[in-house]
Amino acid sequence: MNIIRWGLLSTANINKRLIPAIRRSKRGELIAVASRDEQKAKDYAREWEIPISFGSYEEMLTSGSIDAVYISLPNHLHAEWSVRALSEGLHVLCEKPFALSVDEVDQMVTASKTHQRVLAEAFMYRHHPQTLLAGEWVQSGKLGEISLVRGVFNFTLQEQHRIRLVPEFGGGSLWDIGVYPLSFAQFIMGSHPTRVSGAQWIGETGVDETFAGLLHYTNDRFATIGSSFRSPFYTSAEIIGTEGRLVFNRPFVVLDETRKMIFHPQDGGPREIPVPEKELYLGQIEDMHAAILDGKPSYVSLEETRDHIRTVEALYKSAQDVQIVHLD
Ligand SMILES: NC(=O)c1ccc[n+]([C@@H]2O[C@H](COP(=O)([O-])OP(=O)(O)OC[C@H]3O[C@@H](n4cnc5c(N)ncnc54)[C@H](OP(=O)(O)O)[C@@H]3O)[C@@H](O)[C@H]2O)c1
Repeated sequence: MNIIRWGLLSTANINKRLIPAIRRSKRGELIAVASRDEQKAKDYAREWEIPISFGSYEEMLTSGSIDAVYISLPNHLHAEWSVRALSEGLHVLCEKPFALSVDEVDQMVTASKTHQRVLAEAFMYRHHPQTLLAGEWVQSGKLGEISLVRGVFNFTLQEQHRIRLVPEFGGGSLWDIGVYPLSFAQFIMGSHPTRVSGAQWIGETGVDETFAGLLHYTNDRFATIGSSFRSPFYTSAEIIGTEGRLVFNRPFVVLDETRKMIFHPQDGGPREIPVPEKELYLGQIEDMHAAILDGKPSYVSLEETRDHIRTVEALYKSAQDVQIVHLD
């Protein structure tokens, strides 16, 4: 086996980003799509020129026609369908947020180990050269000692985004977009926080439409994160160290046309740091291929993913109980 045959589990909006990435990858082929509705699956397959369509998710998983599945279901279905796919011997790339509790993550990891199949969270921006370079700058000490990471992700919610407003589906701005600055902070700090405090504004929908979090790390380091469905699209991030700071205008939805990574040193004026271009969704697909075909560990480990989910749970608990929550 040197080509991975992919199947899409659902006809979600986000698939339109994954489809070109699978096609551009050298070792992947898009073979199938499954929907709860047979006609919808057929129409989708025709529109996107996908060879096989299935009128149920189960049918695709048991068909023998694919090696790996991309799970782009609403958040509350990620764990269930990942476990089912792994149990059928398929490799799984599951959308963020990976799951809605640490218990769910543990069930998914157990299924991955039991069936010896690759399982990874689809955090596309983690694979972009800009994020990798930011990590290298921090590791090499160019920014000195890091004291603070700040990140925010906002957009105005519209009709096609409605699954994000359903509490039982794992809706809410922190689960949906707050996880980006959260994962960025954990990547830069190299671990999960030791304690967190969160605050939320819950709309009539019953989900947090705005969330703010303060994360404390070892050695007196901090991160602040924010997410909101009640603002025009806006993302930013900043890493602050004793030697200067790195500022990103597109840290998560990294578009090479508009992206800028600016270094503000302690002495001298700001300067833009050149970053190699890369199609945003390609890295996570190539990483899956390397894990499946070459046996390389996934770049975003399941331990790191588990830490993200644990931190989100802690932040929600903190916001609900109006108190600091300790993670260790
Ligand atoms: N990484 C990224 O850049 C990124 C961006 C956006 C979203 N996401 C993630 O991708 C996932 C999907 O988001 P999306 O906005 O693309 O979702 P969406 O367009 O609303 O699609 C979700 C799909 O799930 C299926 N589904 C199964 N049960 C459902 C139910 N009870 N209600 C609604 N849909 C149901 C439907 O497919 P069928 O009708 O075909 O069965 C539907 O098309 C989420 O986990 C989200 O966090 C990631």
